[in-house]
Amino acid sequence: MGKLLIDILQGNGRQEMPVWFMRQAGRYLPEYRALREKAGSFLDLCYSPEMASEATLQPIRRFGFDAAILFSDILVIPHALGLDLRFVEGEGPLLEKADTAERIAQLSAARVEDFLQPVVETVRILSRELPRETALIGFCGAPWTVASYMIAGRGTPDQGPIRQMSYTDPALLDRLLDILVEASALYLKAQLRAGADCLQIFDSWAGVVADGWFERWVTGPTRRLVDEVRKEFPTSPIIGFPKGCSAHAARYVAETGVDAIGLDWTAPLDVYDAGFPVTQGNLDPLCLLAGGEALDAAVDRIMRTARPGRHIFNLGHGILPQTPIAHVEQVLTRLREGGGDV
Ligand code: CP3
Repeated sequence: MGKLLIDILQGNGRQEMPVWFMRQAGRYLPEYRALREKAGSFLDLCYSPEMASEATLQPIRRFGFDAAILFSDILVIPHALGLDLRFVEGEGPLLEKADTAERIAQLSAARVEDFLQPVVETVRILSRELPRETALIGFCGAPWTVASYMIAGRGTPDQGPIRQMSYTDPALLDRLLDILVEASALYLKAQLRAGADCLQIFDSWAGVVADGWFERWVTGPTRRLVDEVRKEFPTSPIIGFPKGCSAHAARYVAETGVDAIGLDWTAPLDVYDAGFPVTQGNLDPLCLLAGGEALDAAVDRIMRTARPGRHIFNLGHGILPQTPIAHVEQVLTRLREGGGDV
C-alpha cells in the first residue's frame, strides 16, 4: 500500500479517510512558537531549510497526520519576483505593490527558481525525513489570490483594489496573472522534482470574484497553471482550494481539471456523486476552536455525509492560533473511534 492521501487522490480503492489540517504548523503549537522565536522573523523561518523542515515535521510528530504540508507562504512568489515583503506582528503581510503597468513590466519569472532554492531544499530534506506513510504536499497561491495581495499590498476585507483594477484595466490584470502562472508553474515543478507527492493551490480570495468573471480570473489562470505542471508531472495529484465559492465547486473542477477540491465550512458535502473528484474539508475552524459537543457533532456529521474513500478530512480554512491542542486531539480520537484511519 502507498501513502493513504495519495491513494485516495488517485482513486486506488482505499476506503479510509486521511486527515491533515491547513496551517497545521503554526502558532497554536508551543514548539512552533519556540522555533519562530529562534528564527527571528517569519521569512527567515521560511527561507531556512533546516528550520522550515523542522516546522513542517512538528505537527506530524505530535499528531501523526496523514500528510505534511511544506512550511512556506504563498507570498514568497511575489517576493521572488522582486517585491519587498515583510510580515508585521499582529498586522499580517505587507507587500510592495505592483499595481502599475511599469512595475508589472519589471517583474521577471526568470529569477524565481534561483530565489526559491531554499524552499526547494526544504522539500528535499522533508522527502528524506518524513515517515514513509506520510504524504508531502507542496503548494502555491492561485494567480488571482497572489495578484490580489500584489495590487493591495496587504490583505483587505474583500480585496477591493484588485476588483477595481479588474474593471478599469482588465488587460493589465491578464498580464500580471500570466506572469504568476509562469512563476508558479516553475515553482511547483521544482517542488515535485524535489520530492513533493502532490500539490495544493490556495485560492483564498476566489470567493470575491463577481459573477460573470469566474473563468477569466479564477479557473482560467488556474487551468493554465495545472496544464503547465502536468506537462512534466502528468500523474501528481493537484488539490484546488477556491475558498468562498462552494456554489461553483463543480464548475471549478470541470474548468481547472484538478484532482480534488478543498471546500470551506459553508459547502454542502452531501451533493457529490461517484463521478465527482475527491473532496477535502470542511470543518469550521471556529468549531475546532470551540471544542466540546459541537466539535464532536461536526466531526460525526462529516464522517456521515462524506463519500467513503473519496474525502480528505480537513478544515474549511486554516487552524486559528488560539486553538487548544486538546481540540485537535479530540478530533483525531473521534475519527479513530468512528472507524476513520488516523
Ligand atoms: O501549515 C501550513 O499550512 C503550511 C504553511 C502555510 C503558511 N501560510 C504559513 C504561515 C501555508 C500553506 C500558508 C498559505 C497562505 N499564506 C495563504 C493561503 C491560505 C489562507 O490562509 O487563506 C495566505 C492567504 C497566506 C498569506 C499570509 N501569510 C497571511 C494573510 C498571513 C498573516 C495571517 C497570520 O496568520 O498571521 C501569513 C502569515 C503566516 N503564514 C503564518 C504562518 C504559520 C503566521 C506567521 C507567524 O508565524 O508569525
